[in-house]
Amino acid sequence: MASLHRLLSLVPLLLLIILSAQNLGSLEAEARNVKNPTKLLFAFGDSYADTGNVRRDAVASSWKQPYGITFPGKPAGRFSNGRVLTDFLAKYLGVRSPVPYRMRNLMPQYMKYGINFAYGGTGVFNTFSADPNMTLQIDFFQALIRDKVYSSAELRNSVALVSVAGNDYSFYLQRNGATEVTPKFMASVVKQTVKNVARIHALGVKKIAVSGLQPVGCLPKTTALSSFSQCNSTFNDFATRHNNLLRRGLVKLKQQETNNDNSSIVILDLYDSFMSVLNHPSSYKIKNHFKPCCVGLSSQYACGSVDDKSMVKKYRVCNDPKSAFFWDLVHPTQSGWHAVYSNLRATSNVLQQLH
Ligand SMILES: *[C@@H]1O[C@H](CO)[C@@H](O)[C@H](O)[C@H]1NC(C)=O
Ligand SMILES: *[C@@H]1O[C@H](CO)[C@@H](O)[C@H](O)[C@H]1NC(C)=O
Ligand SMILES: *[C@@H]1O[C@H](CO)[C@@H](O)[C@H](O)[C@H]1NC(C)=O
Repeated sequence: MASLHRLLSLVPLLLLIILSAQNLGSLEAEARNVKNPTKLLFAFGDSYADTGNVRRDAVASSWKQPYGITFPGKPAGRFSNGRVLTDFLAKYLGVRSPVPYRMRNLMPQYMKYGINFAYGGTGVFNTFSADPNMTLQIDFFQALIRDKVYSSAELRNSVALVSVAGNDYSFYLQRNGATEVTPKFMASVVKQTVKNVARIHALGVKKIAVSGLQPVGCLPKTTALSSFSQCNSTFNDFATRHNNLLRRGLVKLKQQETNNDNSSIVILDLYDSFMSVLNHPSSYKIKNHFKPCCVGLSSQYACGSVDDKSMVKKYRVCNDPKSAFFWDLVHPTQSGWHAVYSNLRATSNVLQQLH
């Protein structure tokens, strides 16, 4: 009760901050417009892109110990021990990693670098997560554009990251008690992803990076069955089919929508990049490539689990998170993301096309 009372007394102050932030937003957009606008980054999607939108009190792990131990040093909303894909893309573009949408009014000064709309656990359709799906995330973006928080010149100079790492599929399997995703459902996930990309493009963002599905058969969640020794080829073939369909959909979109207007819609090939690192870990200073760094003490626990009654932690963290590729059952470590990023940078020109 005491804390509720304190919270309520803060409400007017928060409202004031929110209101003034909104006014400032459009003024700043005009002021920034005068000069040559710098790049902005907008991120959409799931936990591979989220840097703090999932709430602290959610069941998700991103605010629990030991998440964030490497960066920023404590749990801060990332699904890793440190930086994730969005952070590395921001670094590449030479911009600050965009502020999470949920915190935009607390840090209005950072909105000029873009916004991260991604929520861990979400998909293009609704999933087990109650957080906004990608359609709603784009609605938030559209509302800010309508309120003139971003000018069209800024949007033209923006890069969007779209991450779809498979929550639609895991939800589908769980809900239907199925072991396989039908081709029809896969087609609908890809179609909705392409539709979302088209919408972001129509809102004025000319450079869009869409992540392909990672080799899901190599995620510790799957390889646990073989004591983290081998990838499941059935699941990896599935990811390849998704990626081929996605590639075709985006090529078609580019032909229909962009009319050579200097737009770049590119795929970040996470499948190939993850595989390159997993096949040649030592080239990326990775020692521990299949086994996750942070694991539950038994199958009923996960990284971050704590016993409700005794408050004893029910997970174990490896000695050197820097040398592990995977952090938990589905997410890379900061080193893992860094390796994937280095590989993307070295093996293709997709990142260059975002400049
Ligand atoms: C996104 O979520 C909203 C609210 O739950 C829902 O009405 C809408 O159908 C969802 N969009 C898609 C594409 O599933
Ligand atoms: C992959 O995993 C599925 C589901 O657990 C299993 O049925 C299948 O046999 C596995 N395939 C391979 C090649 O290991
Ligand atoms: C494409 O970019 C070039 C070089 O920046 C510019 O001169 C040209 O006007 C742009 N074309 C369109 C359609 O925006």
